[in-house]
Amino acid sequence: MAPRTRTSDQPATRGHTRDATGDPHTAGATTIALANQKGGVAKTTSVASIGAALSELGQRVLLVDLDPQACLTFSLGVDPDTVERSVHDVLTGSAEVGDVVVTCEEGVDLVPSTIDLAAAEAMLLPRPGREYVLRSALEGVGAAYDVVLLDCSPSLGVLTLNALTAADALIIPMPCEMLSHRGVGQLLDTVADVQKILNKDLEVWGILPTLFDGRSNHAREVLADVGERYDLPVLEPPIPKTVRFAEAPAVGRSILATARTSKGAQAYRDVAASLLARL
Ligand SMILES: Nc1ncnc2c1ncn2[C@@H]1O[C@H](COP(=O)(O)OP(=O)(O)O)[C@@H](O)[C@H]1O
Ligand SMILES: [Mg+2]
Repeated sequence: MAPRTRTSDQPATRGHTRDATGDPHTAGATTIALANQKGGVAKTTSVASIGAALSELGQRVLLVDLDPQACLTFSLGVDPDTVERSVHDVLTGSAEVGDVVVTCEEGVDLVPSTIDLAAAEAMLLPRPGREYVLRSALEGVGAAYDVVLLDCSPSLGVLTLNALTAADALIIPMPCEMLSHRGVGQLLDTVADVQKILNKDLEVWGILPTLFDGRSNHAREVLADVGERYDLPVLEPPIPKTVRFAEAPAVGRSILATARTSKGAQAYRDVAASLLARL
């Protein structure tokens, strides 16, 4: 079944209106940015997989693709070339989030991206309050979801600043390799600036170790050291490196659907369950 576009007069009704504790949701969605200005660290894979896992847990999930390369959009079975309205229209003010949302087979809703988003950076730059555009756009749908996951592009530009300004929490996906550390200090400096100026409520929930090869001594050493080095919590369990992840995007589903019982899928389910307690 192809993903369908939902019009704004059809609210998100799938899922539950109560959270895991049975309390009515009054505070609105918890927004979590997955950011790291390095490419290839499994931001997009983690957003798709954690989103699918939280949906399995009965959460109403919205994913936002903030990368002009539109990998999240593609990997959830939506062809970016056929998307008529996207996150670009939301950021330019010509559409509301509810107008562009697509419901995916994965059980999650998606704000898709297209290559048009590459122009958003330049378009936003001269605008006053440019860092707040996504935050105010998401306020309109906060009551319809339990969690919003933001898939950032590999840069610290204005799109990522929009994500950090809109987010309640930040998760930093990081492969367990030495060179993957480079740039994390710069990311944390940016986070500190955002906390000072744009979003004092932003919490860093921690590093998510990805592409973890448990047979490698080096990977285990990096995993043991990374939390102390940056004085950050390390989310558990680490996500194992497995070829099953490479297969999933091609069929437009996350690894939770294509390899239901794989170690990778189970690791993401465990991470999602630990996040659920904090939503
Ligand atoms: N746990 C994993 N094991 C093996 N390959 C992975 C894993 N996680 C992600 N990948 C692959 O690594 C590449 C980069 O992942 P991606 O999520 O696109 O990173 P980013 O969004 O940070 O650029 C993709 O080809 C993806 O399929
Ligand atoms: Mg990506």
